[in-house]
Amino acid sequence: MSDPTPITEQAVAEAVDAALAAISAAGDSTALRAARTEHTAEQSPLAKLNAAIRDLPGDQKAAAGKLVGQARGRVNQALAAQEGVVLAAEEQARLAAESVDVTAVPSRRRAGARHPLSLLTEAMGDVFTGMGWEIAEGPELEHEWFNFDALNFDEDHPARAMQDTFFVEPVERHLVLRTHTSPVQIRSLLSRPLPLYVVAPGRVYRTDELDATHTPVFQQIEGIAIDKGLTMAHLRGTLEHLARSMFGEGAQIRLRPNFFPFTEPSAEMDVWQPNAKGGARWVEWGGCGMVNRNVLRAAGIDPEEYQGFAFGMGIERTLQFRNDMNDMRDMVEGDVRFSQQFGMVV
Ligand code: DAH
Repeated sequence: MSDPTPITEQAVAEAVDAALAAISAAGDSTALRAARTEHTAEQSPLAKLNAAIRDLPGDQKAAAGKLVGQARGRVNQALAAQEGVVLAAEEQARLAAESVDVTAVPSRRRAGARHPLSLLTEAMGDVFTGMGWEIAEGPELEHEWFNFDALNFDEDHPARAMQDTFFVEPVERHLVLRTHTSPVQIRSLLSRPLPLYVVAPGRVYRTDELDATHTPVFQQIEGIAIDKGLTMAHLRGTLEHLARSMFGEGAQIRLRPNFFPFTEPSAEMDVWQPNAKGGARWVEWGGCGMVNRNVLRAAGIDPEEYQGFAFGMGIERTLQFRNDMNDMRDMVEGDVRFSQQFGMVV
């Protein structure tokens, strides 16, 4: 008897082999979905074989149904098993991609470093706070009265001349960029109780061109002490202590008579630097003197009752002497290689 159907063991085995090969070759869920469609969906060989059972003579249906049913069962099992494998692999890959190495060392973020001038300013302030002095500040945009008048400058004192001072418009407001930190003397005298021991570091401005020894913006530190019975000896002792803190135990100071409107007597102060590179030497460091009675009066203080001394020096000059630098421009240009020479980690 002839077999009118295409349902042969060979046809079924071929369909199963093709399906199993496609399933085991499917490495991800997209490929697996394609294999499922190709080998089990309506137009697949196995589905067609299954549909053909209907047309078989009744006595052959059971055997063919068993044959095709087992074949479809194997293919479905293989699909389920491969789906488990593929989904697990995809989950692994996702976890690996999203994982964070908590032990990884981040690339170094450069934090920067303080400028040597800022550090020196603080070190100079510390010398005074260590003796119980206070640190004061004043505005860089200053009224002419604080910068000159209250400090006993004459109306026609040369320092007021246009070539030294930055006057700020409109001139009727009498504002200047302070030419020294001495106006903080007056602000301190007016705002603090006596006795008073104050240092005021800060930026000052003069109409100088930038060159090896000048800069139009630089820094000073001002000191003023007002108490009963202060003398030049106290001034000397204070400055000597500062000099030794800055330049070493062998440092000395020397006072030479000079003139400043706000001190009387006034002196130019030199410092003996025992450790200077080219050999020990005297260098001009700042100005000082006993606070002029007119300054005390301008602040409403009775000069018969209180006396005091004052001093002021350049911070750039101090750094220059301490570190044997000969070009001021290095300090203001902001090149990190300058700071690195001071051991800064930049
Ligand atoms: N203010 C002066 C200047 O800039 C420096 C100075 C001299 C300050 C004498 C003082 C002082 O306090 O007593 O040149």
